[in-house]
Amino acid sequence: MKKNNQKIPIIIGHAIISGNCCIADDKGNMPESLISEKDWELFQEDLDQSDIIILGRRSYEYFHNKRRNRLIPTTQIQGYHFQDKDLCFFNPSFISLEEAISLFTPHPKKIAVAGGQKVYELVFEQLFYHQFHLSIKMDQFLINGQPFIKGITKIVDVRKYIEEKGMQLKTEKKLDSDTTQYVYSRF
Ligand SMILES: NC(=O)c1ccc[n+]([C@@H]2O[C@H](COP(=O)([O-])OP(=O)(O)OC[C@H]3O[C@@H](n4cnc5c(N)ncnc54)[C@H](OP(=O)(O)O)[C@@H]3O)[C@@H](O)[C@H]2O)c1
Repeated sequence: MKKNNQKIPIIIGHAIISGNCCIADDKGNMPESLISEKDWELFQEDLDQSDIIILGRRSYEYFHNKRRNRLIPTTQIQGYHFQDKDLCFFNPSFISLEEAISLFTPHPKKIAVAGGQKVYELVFEQLFYHQFHLSIKMDQFLINGQPFIKGITKIVDVRKYIEEKGMQLKTEKKLDSDTTQYVYSRF
């Protein structure tokens, strides 16, 4: 992403998880019980300040009316396809995330990663996060839910995973009675 003297954009991940580390229920839907108004407000503020949002196909289908620059991985095409000037689908088996980001002009300064699980994983594998904003609703428990990180069901292991990816806990803020936001940053 440094091609043509382009600067590496700031990449910020966002997730809200249950006490057993899930981002969605057993049907793959995000239940209302996992939403925190304050977290949603902060999330939307950051999306408004970002040049590109990377998100999964399902999240896109929920929020397709938002006119923001969106980059969506999918297995359903080969290469990439701009459906509109602010909406690009790409297949990571054919084009890297870095190359897909470079398709947008002007080159982005700030990128938000909205998930879900496969999208978080793609960024962890192919790039990295400068920051991760992780909100936890400890009182929520989603039986057979979709985990934030594949195979991880304990908060202590989520923390360990993020730290092993080169980030440290910087701030911790209570957002409402049952939601706490943890901001991790690169060293
Ligand atoms: N709690 C939270 O913070 C949070 C955050 C985000 C999402 N969610 C919830 O989690 C659920 C799933 O989210 P999601 O569907 O947006 O995301 P996802 O599970 O990460 O991705 C779903 C789809 O995106 C495509 N995709 C993602 N990564 C890919 C990769 N590396 N290579 C190729 N294709 C890839 C695939 O689409 P194709 O089938 O087209 O190949 C995949 O089926 C939704 O209910 C959503 O609301 C919760």
